[in-house]
Amino acid sequence: MTRASLDKQPHEVASMFDGVAANYDLTNTVLSLGQDRAWRKEVTRAVDPGPGKRVLDLAAGTATSSLPFAATGAYVVPCDFSIGMLSEGKKRHAHLPFTAGDATKLPFQDKSFDAVTISFGLRNVVDTEAALREMFRVTKKGGRVVICEFSDPTWAPFRTVYNEYLMRALPPVARAVSSNPDAYVYLAESIRAWPDQAGLAKKLQQAGWSKVAWRNLTGGVVALHRGVRI
Ligand SMILES: C[S@@+](CC[C@H](N)C(=O)[O-])C[C@H]1O[C@@H](n2cnc3c(N)ncnc32)[C@H](O)[C@@H]1O
Repeated sequence: MTRASLDKQPHEVASMFDGVAANYDLTNTVLSLGQDRAWRKEVTRAVDPGPGKRVLDLAAGTATSSLPFAATGAYVVPCDFSIGMLSEGKKRHAHLPFTAGDATKLPFQDKSFDAVTISFGLRNVVDTEAALREMFRVTKKGGRVVICEFSDPTWAPFRTVYNEYLMRALPPVARAVSSNPDAYVYLAESIRAWPDQAGLAKKLQQAGWSKVAWRNLTGGVVALHRGVRI
Protein backbone atom coordinates (compact mmCIF):
# COMPACT_ATOMS: atom_id res chain seq x y z
CA MET A 1 0.00 0.00 0.00
CA THR A 2 1.38 3.43 -0.93
CA ARG A 3 0.88 6.91 0.49
CA ALA A 4 -1.91 7.37 -2.06
CA SER A 5 -3.91 5.05 0.23
CA LEU A 6 -4.74 8.12 2.33
CA ASP A 7 -6.99 9.41 -0.49
CA LYS A 8 -9.72 6.95 0.43
CA GLN A 9 -13.36 7.30 -0.53
CA PRO A 10 -15.82 6.99 2.40
CA HIS A 11 -17.01 3.56 1.17
CA GLU A 12 -13.39 2.34 1.07
CA VAL A 13 -12.90 3.43 4.70
CA ALA A 14 -16.10 1.60 5.68
CA SER A 15 -15.08 -1.63 3.93
CA MET A 16 -11.57 -1.47 5.41
CA PHE A 17 -13.15 -1.44 8.89
CA ASP A 18 -15.63 -4.19 7.89
CA GLY A 19 -12.51 -6.30 7.22
CA VAL A 20 -10.87 -5.82 10.64
CA ALA A 21 -14.03 -5.88 12.80
CA ALA A 22 -13.63 -9.39 14.23
CA ASN A 23 -10.28 -8.85 15.94
CA TYR A 24 -10.19 -5.06 16.00
CA ASP A 25 -10.14 -4.67 19.81
CA LEU A 26 -7.30 -7.12 20.46
CA THR A 27 -5.18 -5.61 17.70
CA ASN A 28 -5.72 -2.14 19.11
CA THR A 29 -4.62 -3.13 22.59
CA VAL A 30 -1.48 -4.81 21.23
CA LEU A 31 -0.54 -1.91 18.93
CA SER A 32 -1.12 0.77 21.57
CA LEU A 33 1.04 -1.27 23.98
CA GLY A 34 -1.91 -1.56 26.37
CA GLN A 35 -2.36 2.20 26.72
CA ASP A 36 -5.86 2.24 25.20
CA ARG A 37 -7.57 1.34 28.49
CA ALA A 38 -6.03 4.29 30.34
CA TRP A 39 -6.95 6.63 27.47
CA ARG A 40 -10.58 5.47 27.59
CA LYS A 41 -10.77 6.25 31.33
CA GLU A 42 -9.69 9.83 30.63
CA VAL A 43 -12.27 10.15 27.84
CA THR A 44 -15.00 9.04 30.25
CA ARG A 45 -13.90 11.62 32.80
CA ALA A 46 -14.05 14.37 30.15
CA VAL A 47 -17.47 13.30 28.80
CA ASP A 48 -18.84 13.18 32.37
CA PRO A 49 -21.75 10.84 31.56
CA GLY A 50 -24.37 9.78 34.09
CA PRO A 51 -28.02 8.80 34.54
CA GLY A 52 -30.35 10.97 32.43
CA LYS A 53 -27.57 12.10 30.05
CA ARG A 54 -27.77 11.36 26.31
CA VAL A 55 -24.36 10.60 24.81
CA LEU A 56 -23.57 10.06 21.13
CA ASP A 57 -20.47 7.92 20.57
CA LEU A 58 -19.60 8.60 16.98
CA ALA A 59 -17.45 6.23 14.88
CA ALA A 60 -18.07 3.84 17.76
CA GLY A 61 -17.07 0.73 15.82
CA THR A 62 -17.81 -2.32 17.97
CA ALA A 63 -18.76 0.03 20.88
CA THR A 64 -15.69 -0.63 23.00
CA SER A 65 -15.51 3.16 23.37
CA SER A 66 -19.24 3.34 24.34
CA LEU A 67 -19.18 0.83 27.21
CA PRO A 68 -17.65 3.08 29.91
CA PHE A 69 -20.37 5.70 29.27
CA ALA A 70 -23.17 3.11 29.43
CA ALA A 71 -21.71 1.79 32.71
CA THR A 72 -22.48 5.14 34.39
CA GLY A 73 -26.21 4.85 33.57
CA ALA A 74 -26.14 7.30 30.64
CA TYR A 75 -28.16 6.58 27.48
CA VAL A 76 -25.45 5.95 24.87
CA VAL A 77 -25.95 5.69 21.12
CA PRO A 78 -23.02 4.00 19.32
CA CYS A 79 -23.06 5.21 15.71
CA ASP A 80 -20.81 4.07 12.84
CA PHE A 81 -21.00 3.59 9.06
CA SER A 82 -19.20 0.23 8.94
CA ILE A 83 -21.85 -2.47 9.01
CA GLY A 84 -19.12 -5.02 9.83
CA MET A 85 -18.11 -3.13 12.98
CA LEU A 86 -21.76 -2.56 14.01
CA SER A 87 -22.67 -6.25 13.55
CA GLU A 88 -19.66 -7.40 15.56
CA GLY A 89 -20.61 -4.90 18.29
CA LYS A 90 -24.27 -5.97 18.31
CA LYS A 91 -23.21 -9.62 18.79
CA ARG A 92 -21.27 -8.63 21.91
CA HIS A 93 -23.45 -5.85 23.36
CA ALA A 94 -27.01 -6.51 22.20
CA HIS A 95 -28.46 -4.05 24.74
CA LEU A 96 -26.90 -0.96 23.10
CA PRO A 97 -28.88 1.03 20.44
CA PHE A 98 -26.34 0.65 17.59
CA THR A 99 -27.16 3.10 14.78
CA ALA A 100 -25.81 3.12 11.22
CA GLY A 101 -24.85 6.64 10.23
CA ASP A 102 -22.24 8.74 8.46
CA ALA A 103 -20.48 11.30 10.67
CA THR A 104 -20.87 13.91 7.93
CA LYS A 105 -24.67 13.44 7.64
CA LEU A 106 -25.86 12.34 11.07
CA PRO A 107 -29.30 10.71 11.30
CA PHE A 108 -30.23 12.67 14.46
CA GLN A 109 -32.25 15.79 15.21
CA ASP A 110 -30.70 19.14 16.08
CA LYS A 111 -29.70 19.61 19.75
CA SER A 112 -30.53 16.05 20.79
CA PHE A 113 -27.44 15.04 22.86
CA ASP A 114 -25.80 16.30 26.07
CA ALA A 115 -22.41 15.12 24.84
CA VAL A 116 -21.00 13.98 21.52
CA THR A 117 -17.74 12.10 21.54
CA ILE A 118 -15.51 10.35 19.02
CA SER A 119 -12.52 8.14 19.87
CA PHE A 120 -9.95 7.21 17.25
CA GLY A 121 -12.49 7.95 14.53
CA LEU A 122 -12.32 11.59 13.45
CA ARG A 123 -8.99 11.00 11.68
CA ASN A 124 -10.72 8.39 9.52
CA VAL A 125 -13.64 10.62 8.52
CA VAL A 126 -12.91 11.87 5.03
CA ASP A 127 -14.42 15.36 5.63
CA THR A 128 -13.30 16.39 9.15
CA GLU A 129 -14.89 19.84 9.00
CA ALA A 130 -18.30 18.47 7.99
CA ALA A 131 -18.18 15.99 10.90
CA LEU A 132 -17.32 18.73 13.42
CA ARG A 133 -20.26 20.83 12.15
CA GLU A 134 -22.63 17.85 12.36
CA MET A 135 -21.46 17.09 15.91
CA PHE A 136 -22.20 20.72 16.79
CA ARG A 137 -25.66 20.56 15.20
CA VAL A 138 -26.82 17.54 17.24
CA THR A 139 -25.43 18.83 20.58
CA LYS A 140 -27.75 20.67 23.00
CA LYS A 141 -26.87 24.19 24.11
CA GLY A 142 -24.53 23.82 27.09
CA GLY A 143 -23.53 20.37 25.82
CA ARG A 144 -19.99 19.27 25.06
CA VAL A 145 -17.80 17.56 22.54
CA VAL A 146 -14.86 15.29 23.45
CA ILE A 147 -12.46 14.07 20.79
CA CYS A 148 -9.84 11.41 21.54
CA GLU A 149 -7.36 11.10 18.72
CA PHE A 150 -3.71 10.33 18.02
CA SER A 151 -1.67 13.51 18.02
CA ASP A 152 1.88 14.87 18.15
CA PRO A 153 4.24 13.86 20.99
CA THR A 154 5.45 17.11 22.53
CA TRP A 155 9.02 16.06 23.50
CA ALA A 156 11.18 16.07 20.36
CA PRO A 157 13.39 13.03 21.19
CA PHE A 158 10.30 10.95 22.03
CA ARG A 159 8.58 12.19 18.86
CA THR A 160 11.46 10.83 16.78
CA VAL A 161 11.32 7.40 18.47
CA TYR A 162 7.52 7.32 18.13
CA ASN A 163 7.59 8.15 14.42
CA GLU A 164 10.08 5.32 13.93
CA TYR A 165 7.68 2.99 15.81
CA LEU A 166 4.80 4.06 13.60
CA MET A 167 6.57 3.66 10.29
CA ARG A 168 8.91 0.72 11.02
CA ALA A 169 7.71 -1.41 13.94
CA LEU A 170 3.94 -1.08 13.66
CA PRO A 171 3.47 -2.58 10.15
CA PRO A 172 5.32 -5.88 10.94
CA VAL A 173 3.51 -6.18 14.30
CA ALA A 174 0.24 -5.52 12.50
CA ARG A 175 1.05 -8.22 9.94
CA ALA A 176 1.47 -10.68 12.80
CA VAL A 177 -1.72 -9.88 14.73
CA SER A 178 -4.22 -8.38 12.27
CA SER A 179 -6.40 -9.96 9.59
CA ASN A 180 -5.87 -6.87 7.41
CA PRO A 181 -2.39 -5.42 7.93
CA ASP A 182 -2.93 -2.81 5.20
CA ALA A 183 -5.51 -1.18 7.47
CA TYR A 184 -2.74 -0.61 10.03
CA VAL A 185 -0.32 0.77 7.46
CA TYR A 186 -3.12 3.22 6.69
CA LEU A 187 -3.37 3.86 10.46
CA ALA A 188 0.33 4.78 10.68
CA GLU A 189 0.17 7.05 7.64
CA SER A 190 -3.05 8.75 8.70
CA ILE A 191 -1.57 9.51 12.15
CA ARG A 192 1.37 11.26 10.52
CA ALA A 193 -0.86 13.26 8.19
CA TRP A 194 -3.23 14.44 10.97
CA PRO A 195 -3.11 18.06 12.32
CA ASP A 196 -1.32 18.70 15.61
CA GLN A 197 -3.08 19.73 18.82
CA ALA A 198 -3.39 23.44 17.95
CA GLY A 199 -4.47 22.63 14.39
CA LEU A 200 -7.38 20.45 15.53
CA ALA A 201 -8.40 23.06 18.16
CA LYS A 202 -8.67 25.63 15.38
CA LYS A 203 -10.92 23.35 13.33
CA LEU A 204 -13.20 22.92 16.36
CA GLN A 205 -13.51 26.68 16.79
CA GLN A 206 -14.22 27.14 13.09
CA ALA A 207 -17.07 24.60 13.38
CA GLY A 208 -18.71 26.75 16.10
CA TRP A 209 -17.38 25.19 19.33
CA SER A 210 -16.48 27.47 22.27
CA LYS A 211 -14.11 27.05 25.25
CA VAL A 212 -11.94 24.75 23.12
CA ALA A 213 -9.01 23.19 24.99
CA TRP A 214 -6.96 19.99 24.96
CA ARG A 215 -4.97 17.71 27.22
CA ASN A 216 -2.09 15.51 26.13
CA LEU A 217 -2.05 11.85 27.17
CA THR A 218 1.07 9.65 27.02
CA GLY A 219 3.21 12.68 26.15
CA GLY A 220 0.95 13.73 23.28
CA VAL A 221 0.69 10.33 21.54
CA VAL A 222 -3.02 10.99 22.12
CA ALA A 223 -4.77 14.32 22.70
CA LEU A 224 -8.19 14.85 24.27
CA HIS A 225 -9.87 17.91 22.77
CA ARG A 226 -13.00 19.35 24.26
CA GLY A 227 -15.41 22.17 23.48
CA VAL A 228 -18.80 23.49 24.54
CA ARG A 229 -21.84 24.61 22.54
CA ILE A 230 -22.96 27.93 24.04
C1 LIG B 1 -10.46 3.06 14.73
S1 LIG B 1 -12.19 2.78 14.77
C2 LIG B 1 -12.65 3.41 16.35
C3 LIG B 1 -13.74 2.65 17.02
C4 LIG B 1 -14.06 3.06 18.47
N1 LIG B 1 -14.46 4.45 18.58
C5 LIG B 1 -12.90 2.80 19.41
O1 LIG B 1 -12.43 3.74 20.06
O2 LIG B 1 -12.48 1.65 19.52
C6 LIG B 1 -12.74 4.04 13.66
C7 LIG B 1 -14.18 3.90 13.23
O3 LIG B 1 -14.54 5.08 12.48
C8 LIG B 1 -15.56 4.70 11.59
N2 LIG B 1 -15.77 5.76 10.61
C9 LIG B 1 -14.85 6.28 9.75
N3 LIG B 1 -15.43 7.23 8.99
C10 LIG B 1 -16.73 7.33 9.40
C11 LIG B 1 -17.82 8.13 8.99
N4 LIG B 1 -17.72 9.04 8.01
N5 LIG B 1 -19.00 7.97 9.63
C12 LIG B 1 -19.13 7.05 10.62
N6 LIG B 1 -18.14 6.25 11.05
C13 LIG B 1 -16.95 6.39 10.43
C14 LIG B 1 -15.04 3.38 11.03
O4 LIG B 1 -16.06 2.62 10.41
C15 LIG B 1 -14.47 2.72 12.30
O5 LIG B 1 -15.39 1.86 12.91
